[in-house]
Amino acid sequence: MSRKQVLSCIQPTGHMHFGNYFGAVANWVNLQEDYDCVYGVVDYHAMTMPYKVDKLRTTSWDLILNLAAVGVDPSNLFVQSLVPEHTELGWILSCFCSYGQLTRMTQFKDKSQQNTEESSDTFVSAGLFGYPVLQAADILIYKADYVPVGKDQSQHLELSRNIAQRFNNQVGKEYFVLPESLFTDTPKIKSTADPMRKMSKSAGEKHFINVFDSEERIRKQIRSAVTDAGDTPEGEMSPGVENLFELIKATGEHQQSYEDLIQQHNAGSLKYVDLKQVAADALVGLNRTFVENRAELASNKKELKNKIKQSSFEIRKQAQETLKEVKELVGLMNVRF
Ligand code: AMP
Ligand code: TRP
Repeated sequence: MSRKQVLSCIQPTGHMHFGNYFGAVANWVNLQEDYDCVYGVVDYHAMTMPYKVDKLRTTSWDLILNLAAVGVDPSNLFVQSLVPEHTELGWILSCFCSYGQLTRMTQFKDKSQQNTEESSDTFVSAGLFGYPVLQAADILIYKADYVPVGKDQSQHLELSRNIAQRFNNQVGKEYFVLPESLFTDTPKIKSTADPMRKMSKSAGEKHFINVFDSEERIRKQIRSAVTDAGDTPEGEMSPGVENLFELIKATGEHQQSYEDLIQQHNAGSLKYVDLKQVAADALVGLNRTFVENRAELASNKKELKNKIKQSSFEIRKQAQETLKEVKELVGLMNVRF
């Protein structure tokens, strides 16, 4: 039986913190065992918000390096701008999506406000408005069955299904697969400095731990993690403590200690210093492997770049095939020069 198709994409940003890793990327790595996976670094999407033109390309290569270092197979990776068919399909699909649907997208509302709150720049690009259509193209062009994403993307996924359905109705054929989202089991990882908010780089230095950080920084961040502000009812777990447990569990390491610590918590004898020690060890364990892999890949960047060019070339063939069929179906010119 042929394997189901999985697709997901991530915007190029310079950091990969444990929230991104446990919330998204670790899932990408695991899915590779059972599915045909394609994963995109979506640089066209990164242009929708104010950005630095001299940084984007480096940031994209950095993200590729990071993804490969944590275990994403480079042959499954592509760069969106190396597969320009995404934008062409995006245009076609925008004609199967209503203006009203796009105005209801909460991410657009949030991001267009962010634009104006964070800087005096009031510019909101049409690209930001059309972003979900390009996302639908990313998904539909590979006829993806499953799309692993965070819960924040469920509205975009629903829109992709609507667009596919409208398209199928119009052409009178079940052409596009209706994609389903795959949410990760990992709940939101919280900031260790403020466990009421999610781990995120936009909140500032204290609020994230990078998967490639130095061991020293990881230990320091965990050591200073907020555990219990003293307002947690007897017997309950405070958000900070819960987050540390969650981090240990997510690493899949030190599981016996995890069980022991839980028991100590239930018995009311848990020492936070022990919990922190295990949490730091678990994160550092993962981090060491990742840092080593990254250094090795970085020592031969050229080889990795060539691999990505090659994989983008191979993955593009699939995208070209879909676009050809779509143009045929919607009545566009489809001639070879
Ligand atoms: P972002 O860096 O916010 O664009 O997120 C990239 C991916 O990582 C998305 O799939 C998010 O859902 C996921 N992610 C980001 N921060 C966290 C977090 N603190 N906990 C879990 N997942 C996260
Ligand atoms: N919008 C997604 C995010 O912000 C990134 C993305 C772009 C994506 N295209 C996609 C995710 C296609 C899944 C499938 O995280």
